[in-house]
Amino acid sequence: MAVEHTEYGTFEASLARSRALEKELRENPEKHKILTGDRPTGRLHIGHYFGSLQNRVRLHKLGVPTFIVIADYQVLTDRDTFETISENVHQLVIDYIAAGLDPHDGKTFIFPHSHVPELNQLLLPFLTLVTMAELDRNPTVKEEIAAAGLKSINAGMYTYPVHQAADILFCKATVVPVGKDQLPHLELTRTIARRFNNRFAKDQPVFPEPQALLSEAPLILGLDGAQKMSKSRNNAIMLSADEDETAQLIKKAKTDSERRITYDPENRPEVSNLLLLTSLTTGRPPEEIAEEIGDGGAGQLKRMLTESLNEYLRPLRARRRELEQDPAYIRQVLRDGIKAAREEAIKTLEEVRAVMNMAF
Ligand code: TRP
Repeated sequence: MAVEHTEYGTFEASLARSRALEKELRENPEKHKILTGDRPTGRLHIGHYFGSLQNRVRLHKLGVPTFIVIADYQVLTDRDTFETISENVHQLVIDYIAAGLDPHDGKTFIFPHSHVPELNQLLLPFLTLVTMAELDRNPTVKEEIAAAGLKSINAGMYTYPVHQAADILFCKATVVPVGKDQLPHLELTRTIARRFNNRFAKDQPVFPEPQALLSEAPLILGLDGAQKMSKSRNNAIMLSADEDETAQLIKKAKTDSERRITYDPENRPEVSNLLLLTSLTTGRPPEEIAEEIGDGGAGQLKRMLTESLNEYLRPLRARRRELEQDPAYIRQVLRDGIKAAREEAIKTLEEVRAVMNMAF
């Protein structure tokens, strides 16, 4: 037997494919289905918003049906706590809707995978299509293990990428908007789809090989200007923060000792990140904003960002506050999402059983 290995691919190749794919989505939205997802580990911050959320909303507006999986089981792979999962799911749904995903358009489905048994069941045949060596080589899993400093590693950590393949394939998604760190999982999903079809469904493939869609959204650094924005690094502005908190956080953001403001991401990451955020919230080029501020210095830049960011987020935050008052509505959104996801999953599992000679 020829040995086939999962190729964990290159970033450049994925980016080139993503550009072509966007064009295809714009031309033939009805031929596609988008699936994307998050772990419910807390509220979202502006880095999530400008990095991925905004892109999802934009893609969805092309008219492509969109499934959003909340990967609640995945949370258990690298942390001890489960007490906050339900609250985190709730807050995540609020952030999604406040950011512009509309669960009432009949094409947006938000669901936690723990509520879709037929999706979870796909995990079992899928596990037989990958080798231990492949799971062990997954670079994202390796990084997560290192980052979490785990004393012992549960088997869910090694196998969640296979579960993620079930998250994606249960609805036969064709497009998966993700960040760079998720590319290995997408590659594994494609491998599983291909191997499943080759082994059980040679004449008529059951699964499409879904494509990753990398957004060209900018990387938003934290207010320390040193690393990616992240709640756990304490350098984030949450979407749910109020205007005063936002002002306080920006006031404390790190800058450098040069008075004159210039846009130079390479040499002046802190100032450039604040300029980038001002640019994203005003629609003006960062160089132009820098020029305008000139010798006004970091103080003026921070005042400008505070004002533009608070203004930009005002409608989202107002919507967020309304949604927080209505937990019954959020539960209804989840129930609707679960129902739609299960309908897809039931159909797919039936096909899977049929081709595997397990239909009775
Ligand atoms: N692994 C993703 C993360 O850690 C979350 C996720 C689970 C996901 N299932 C997915 C992302 C399916 C995209 C598609 O963020």
